[in-house]
Amino acid sequence: MNVLGIESSCDETSASVVVDGREILSNVIASQVDLHAKFGGVVPEVASRKHVELINPVIQEALDTAEKTLSDIDVIAVTNRPGLLGALLVGVSAAKSISAALDIPLIGVHHLEGHIYANFLTNPDFGFPFICLVVSGGHSDLVVVKADGEYEILGRTRDDAAGEAFDKSARVLGIGYPGGPIIDKLAKQGNPKAIHFPRARLDDTLDFSFSGLKTAVIRFFRKEGDRYSIEDIAASFQAAVIDMLVNNAMEAVERTGIRRVAMAGGVAANSGLQARMREEAESRGIDFSCPPPRLCTDNAAMIACAGYHHAMRGEFDGIDLDTIASQPLTT
Ligand code: KG4
Ligand code: ZN
Repeated sequence: MNVLGIESSCDETSASVVVDGREILSNVIASQVDLHAKFGGVVPEVASRKHVELINPVIQEALDTAEKTLSDIDVIAVTNRPGLLGALLVGVSAAKSISAALDIPLIGVHHLEGHIYANFLTNPDFGFPFICLVVSGGHSDLVVVKADGEYEILGRTRDDAAGEAFDKSARVLGIGYPGGPIIDKLAKQGNPKAIHFPRARLDDTLDFSFSGLKTAVIRFFRKEGDRYSIEDIAASFQAAVIDMLVNNAMEAVERTGIRRVAMAGGVAANSGLQARMREEAESRGIDFSCPPPRLCTDNAAMIACAGYHHAMRGEFDGIDLDTIASQPLTT
């Protein structure tokens, strides 16, 4: 089954052709990062306009790279929720047009489901159930993937998402946008024990909170920033985020008894987080999966993969497929 995946929920315009949910023939990602960098964050209206400009060429390039034409496509899978409405509309309109014109079945995919299913692109036999730490620019969720397409949320952030914590702290430190990959790189040269930043622990829940850490970084930088290298501050900040994420993920393993753990979303590309999760999983004899960095951040191959699984379950959408700005994974 050849699935054309389309993703335009935030600031990446992406299209991909994936065979049977596992073989990536193409995964074209046009990033708007440079465009939004001067504003220090994604400007929704600017993103929508850029998606309009890019969507057709990106789809064409995905087909060309895959050496396919639209007549070879069996299913179109598109991110329709959650995300920036104007941005989502561009991908969904393109998908609907192709679907209606050529009578190709259409599937709307939840963006976070796409992130989770990126694991099956490189690890197709990873079994159910598993615990997935979904950490992106907009979400920090601990999810039990009970079976194909069945989710239960164990914990979520009460304030900022993990990616937001990286991006906002980087902005305060004046080191650029998006902050995640920059802090990741700087942290490799720094001492993670140089400064002890607070780790929030929320009662008995598996929820996260990153706003206290962000405030601590801002205060510290203003008061004592000149006494430490930017590498040490980055490494110490990243160590605090990693501790909170890994502690809750391992606590979820303890509480559920599920011995398979995966990661997903842009922050899962973090090299320190990947290394620490792998280490903790190995020491407990737990199966661990994490997509390579290019499949952690927004891309259409993950949407095609999730779409393939919808198709195998016989779940299709009609031309009335809607875009939804905000929706948890479980509804
Ligand atoms: O999943 P994603 O591409 O888009 C959303 O769905 O939000 O995630 C983007 C987020 C940004 O906050 C970015 O700073 C963060 O992922 N990110 C990273 C890394 N690469 C991207 N955070 C930490 N380390 C990285 N290497
Ligand atoms: Zn994402």
